[in-house]
Amino acid sequence: MLTPCISRVLVPTDGSETARRAVDFAAGVADRRGKAEVFVLYVAYLPRPLPRMASTPYRQTIEHLLPEEREEAQTIVDLAAARIKALSTKKPDITVTPVIAVHESPAKAILEFAEQNEIDIIVMGSRGLGEIAGIFLGSVSHKIIQGARCPVLIVK
Ligand SMILES: Nc1ncnc2c1ncn2[C@@H]1O[C@H](COP(=O)(O)OP(=O)(O)OP(=O)(O)O)[C@@H](O)[C@H]1O
Ligand SMILES: [Mg+2]
Repeated sequence: MLTPCISRVLVPTDGSETARRAVDFAAGVADRRGKAEVFVLYVAYLPRPLPRMASTPYRQTIEHLLPEEREEAQTIVDLAAARIKALSTKKPDITVTPVIAVHESPAKAILEFAEQNEIDIIVMGSRGLGEIAGIFLGSVSHKIIQGARCPVLIVK
């Protein structure tokens, strides 16, 4: 059987407890591989204003984030990146890149990033910050499983 080559790992995080477990798992995946690039991606969700609010400018790039939104995004990716570095035993061979994206759909941003960066595996949480109790899979992980062209590992 062909052993799949996992060198580029994407771990999308919203800073939730489940995503934190996914970050730890991604660190393990990369570390076992020995030489790997891990991308930590946080997508700041900026919805398009409704048509009746046409005068509201559409915020769509990182420059449009409010200082506190930018700080929160930075903290989320920095903490996750630090965690991966701390957990990797093969330090020089594991590179970690924190990325902040701004998008009206976190799932689309994650899928686009995976395509553009030739990601081999996406490691993510089953749930995130959403508050609807009882459902097993959040809407973002559901869309990634449906839309990704690479394997997706869901951490519970
Ligand atoms: N904005 C985001 N940026 C990066 N990754 C995200 C983002 N939102 C969710 N994720 C990833 O998706 C996983 C599942 O979160 P998801 O949003 O699907 O669940 P939820 O918040 O419980 O439900 P919902 O958002 O549908 O109310 C998270 O653990 C995280 O890995
Ligand atoms: Mg969510």
